[in-house]
Amino acid sequence: MTDARTTTTGTDWAAWQESWDRQQEWYMPDREERFRIMLDMVEALVGTAPRVLDLACGTGSITARLLRRFPDATSTGVDLDPALLAIARGTFEGDERVSFVTADLKDPDWAAALPYDAYDAVLTATALHWLHSEPLAALYGQVAELVRDGGVFMNADHMIDDTTPRINAAERAQRHGRMDQAKRDGALDWAEWWEVAGQDPVLAGPTARRFEIYGEHADGDMPSAARHARVLREKGFTEARPVWCSPSDTLLLALK
Ligand SMILES: C[S@@+](CC[C@H](N)C(=O)[O-])C[C@H]1O[C@@H](n2cnc3c(N)ncnc32)[C@H](O)[C@@H]1O
Repeated sequence: MTDARTTTTGTDWAAWQESWDRQQEWYMPDREERFRIMLDMVEALVGTAPRVLDLACGTGSITARLLRRFPDATSTGVDLDPALLAIARGTFEGDERVSFVTADLKDPDWAAALPYDAYDAVLTATALHWLHSEPLAALYGQVAELVRDGGVFMNADHMIDDTTPRINAAERAQRHGRMDQAKRDGALDWAEWWEVAGQDPVLAGPTARRFEIYGEHADGDMPSAARHARVLREKGFTEARPVWCSPSDTLLLALK
């Protein structure tokens, strides 16, 4: 028997979404604020019924917030992680506004697997720092082709300005001090969250496969917001600048 929170597997997908959110918030306490501004900018630039590509969607965090706020929106989520995609697919099972695609964003042909050639908005969060600068630039070229003229790309991520090393070090020390305290209060970090997922009867298999694909975590770069903006302009966007930032994170918007 299923209820509002569970589906045919009997898994409580909403509980997995909540525990994923708590784990991610341990790293980014202002994560929800970042999503809220992202959706404000979606509304401002492409309206309230956009076709969205949730790039490196994980559990579908952006898609969930998008559809709660804009019920007429549609979303394609793309990711490579079989466990996070299992949670995403379980969460949105039966919702015709949403589809998911398994693809490696480093594969030159990844976009061929998408159901559409063009999107009003391509949105991504806490993901592109898994790529090194060269594959990131190639990806930005592909994203520029997928965004329609007048459409937007937004990337919310940790972006480091290495011209300010003393500010960065002080900010990092404070952030990590707060994370240490939250951990003493019971927060789960990335490794601990995956340990729990690996013990779940439904997620154990996909979790083992995701460790074969990525190991603990892929290795990448964290360029500054200015560098992200420059590459996006080089790849075909006409305007690009931050629309929000915290001491550690930036939400960068590029307009085609
Ligand atoms: C920290 S999670 C963030 C997920 C989601 N955007 C969120 O904010 O909750 C990073 C995601 O990027 C995805 N990712 C990293 N490299 C990727 C690649 N080369 N191809 C596809 N997905 C990738 C991972 O699988 C993971 O789901």
